[in-house]
Amino acid sequence: MTLTSDAPARTRAERPLKQVHLAAHFPGVNNTTVWRDNSTAASQIAFSSFKHFAQNAEKGKFDFLFLAEGLRLREHKGLIHDLDVVGRPNTLAVLAGIAAVTSHIGLVGTLSSTFNEPYELARQLSSLDHLSGGRAGWNIVTTFDAFHGENFRRGKFLDGADRYARAEEFVAVARQLWDAWSPDAIAADKAGGDFLAEDAIGLVDHHGPQFDVTGFPTLPQSPQGRPVIVQAGDSADGRGFASRTAEVIFSRHAKFEDGQKFYTDVKGRLAAVGRHRDSLKILPAATFILGDTEQEARERSRETALLQVSPQTAIAFLEQVWGTDLGGYDPDGPLPDIDPVSTDQGVTRGRVRHDSDPAAIARGWRALAEAEGLSIRDLVIRFAATHTFVGTPVHVAETINRHVQEDASDGFVIVGSSNPTGLDEFVDRVIPELQERGVYRTEYEEGATLRRTLGLPV
Ligand SMILES: Cc1cc2nc3c(=O)[nH]c(=O)nc-3n(C[C@H](O)[C@H](O)[C@H](O)COP(=O)(O)O)c2cc1C
Repeated sequence: MTLTSDAPARTRAERPLKQVHLAAHFPGVNNTTVWRDNSTAASQIAFSSFKHFAQNAEKGKFDFLFLAEGLRLREHKGLIHDLDVVGRPNTLAVLAGIAAVTSHIGLVGTLSSTFNEPYELARQLSSLDHLSGGRAGWNIVTTFDAFHGENFRRGKFLDGADRYARAEEFVAVARQLWDAWSPDAIAADKAGGDFLAEDAIGLVDHHGPQFDVTGFPTLPQSPQGRPVIVQAGDSADGRGFASRTAEVIFSRHAKFEDGQKFYTDVKGRLAAVGRHRDSLKILPAATFILGDTEQEARERSRETALLQVSPQTAIAFLEQVWGTDLGGYDPDGPLPDIDPVSTDQGVTRGRVRHDSDPAAIARGWRALAEAEGLSIRDLVIRFAATHTFVGTPVHVAETINRHVQEDASDGFVIVGSSNPTGLDEFVDRVIPELQERGVYRTEYEEGATLRRTLGLPV
C-alpha cells in the first residue's frame, strides 16, 4: 500500500476510530526509575530483565519495545551522577537477544547519527531486521555535545547547526545501502541461472560533505527493506528532519493541548514534502499510575513520586538549572533566593537539555513555588515526576483513547516507574480496556513487519 498526499482529508467525525499504537520504554538512562524498592527493582543489565520486560510487552500486544541510549554516564559536580540509573548495555546487542525470545513485537533502538558511521550502522540495523523477521526500528538522535564527543576522540565534533545536516546525509547513505541489492534481480537469480552479483547488487558511491562511502553492501534487502525510522529531537531543525525522514516521532508533548499543537505542527509539514498524514505516527512519552479508585491512584502517584525524587535528587535537579552547589538548602524548604550561575557547562554533564535560559526557568519556578506554597522537593516532583495518566484502568484507557481520537497523538511510548515489572499492571489492566473499546489489537497480524504493525505505508 502506498499512501499519497492526494487522498482527501477526512474530518474527525467522518473517519473510523483510530487505532491506538503503544511502545514500551525500557527504564534506563534516567534518574526516575525507582530502584530502592526491592519488591519491584531488578538489574538494568541482566538479560532476565530485558526478557521479562519484552515478553510482557508482547503479551500486551505493544507495537514495539524501545531502548533509549546514553553513550556516557552522566556526571554531576565532577563525579558520576550516582542518583542516576547506571548500566547501559549496547542497544543492538540487547535487541538481538530480545529478538530470540519474542516473535512479534518491534525492536527499536536509539542510535546516534553523530557518533556512528552509515556503512556500519546500516549493516547492523539490516542484520537486526533479518534476524527478527522485519521488526527493526532506528530512533535517530544527534547527541552532539562535547561531553559525549570526548569518548569518541573527536571532541565536540559537530556544532548544533551541523548535526541535522549530518543526520540527513547519514539517512540518505543508509537508504542507498539498504536499497542496493535489487530484490527482482536476486529473485531471478534464485529462480534459475547463475548468481550474478554485479546484476543484483548496485554499487553505492556516495561523496558528500559528511561521508565518502564506496562499496557493495554485504546484505540483501531485509524483510522490511529498511528499518522503521523514529526520531526524537524537538527543535525546528529536528521537526523539519522528522517531517522529511521519520515514520514515528517519540515526542515529549503528552499533555492534551500541547500534544494537539505539536501534532498539528508536524503533521502540517508533511504535505509540503509529498507525504500523507498517516505516514508518520506521533507517540509522546507517558507515565502512569493505576488504582482501584481515583483516590487510591492519586495516593500511589504521590508515594511513587516521593520514591522517584529523593531529597538528594530534588537538590541535584535544581543544581542542574542553578549551575552551582545548592547542598546547603533544605529540600523541604523554599527555593534558593540566589540567581542561577551563568555558565555554558553548569554542574551536570551528559543530560539532554531542552531549555536554554536558566535565569528565566528559575524565575518561573520561584513564582510558581511561592504562589502554590511548594517546597523544593514538591516543585521538582511537579516537573520530574508528575505522572501523565493517574486513575483507574478505565479512566486511563479512556484518556489515552481521547488523546488518540482527538489528534493529540497516535498513541504513546509508555514509561513505567520500575524495572523490569513496571508495565505488568498496565498490560493486565489497561490493555483489556482499550481492546474492549475496539481501538487496540487483540492479536498481532501473523508475519507482520513492524511497519505494518504500526499501520504505516509498506
Ligand atoms: C523524548 C525524547 C527522547 C530522547 N531520547 C534520547 C536518548 O535516549 N538518547 C540521546 O542521545 N538523545 C535523546 N534525545 C535527544 C534528541 O534526540 C536530540 O539529540 C536532542 O533533543 C537535540 O535535538 P533537538 O535540538 O532537535 O531537540 C531525546 C529527545 C527527546 C525529545
